[in-house]
Amino acid sequence: MVDYHSADRYFRQTKELYGNTCYVQEKKLNIVMEDGSPGPKSLLAFHEQISDCLKCALGKKRDKFVFGVGDPNANLLLIGEAPGAKEDEVGEPFVGRAGKMLDKMLSAIDRSREKDVYICNVLKCRPPDNRDPLPSEVEQCESYLHMQIQLIQPKLIVALGRVAGKTLLGLDTALKDMRNITHEYAGTPLRVTYHPAALLRNSNFKPAAWEDFKWINTFLEKK
Ligand code: URA
Repeated sequence: MVDYHSADRYFRQTKELYGNTCYVQEKKLNIVMEDGSPGPKSLLAFHEQISDCLKCALGKKRDKFVFGVGDPNANLLLIGEAPGAKEDEVGEPFVGRAGKMLDKMLSAIDRSREKDVYICNVLKCRPPDNRDPLPSEVEQCESYLHMQIQLIQPKLIVALGRVAGKTLLGLDTALKDMRNITHEYAGTPLRVTYHPAALLRNSNFKPAAWEDFKWINTFLEKK
């Protein structure tokens, strides 16, 4: 079953802005799967299609499937590693304390999870005790992320934290060695920055994270 929480929030905000007229702009997508069959027509359709996933063991243990949240046409796609306890409960990525920190960083560059930003995780279900994703789980789940990228068509992907960065890039290096480099993931430029939880743990990281967010904004303004 799809959790309609984020769709509901989107429609309530649209109502506040535009009254009872609802503007939903869908990209006209014609994705063809590897076997030649037609792919999902929209992010919402894709969410519906995969939300009962039981491909790996995490599916049986989850409370909610955490597909992602935000603007389906966003230029900026933020990717964390996996849902935590709060995200599993609510069904939306980055809703705990780290999420509030992320919202602050986004608001400082005049963006939000509804405004030109989409947020999701590499894994859509919570690993027990918030352990790092296992390679076998990433292998099962990564095609979902690839499809999200095809549907959203972001101009820039930002991996939040070392685990997301190393998982997406297949590198086992320190965060400092992944930052300040424009990598590529699934044909899209990718940067790596601090996980918002790391900024809560150590505020010394905040100036560097702020530099990353300013870089992100400048990059997107030029595109
Ligand atoms: N950390 C993540 O990487 N993702 C979330 O959704 C929440 C915390």
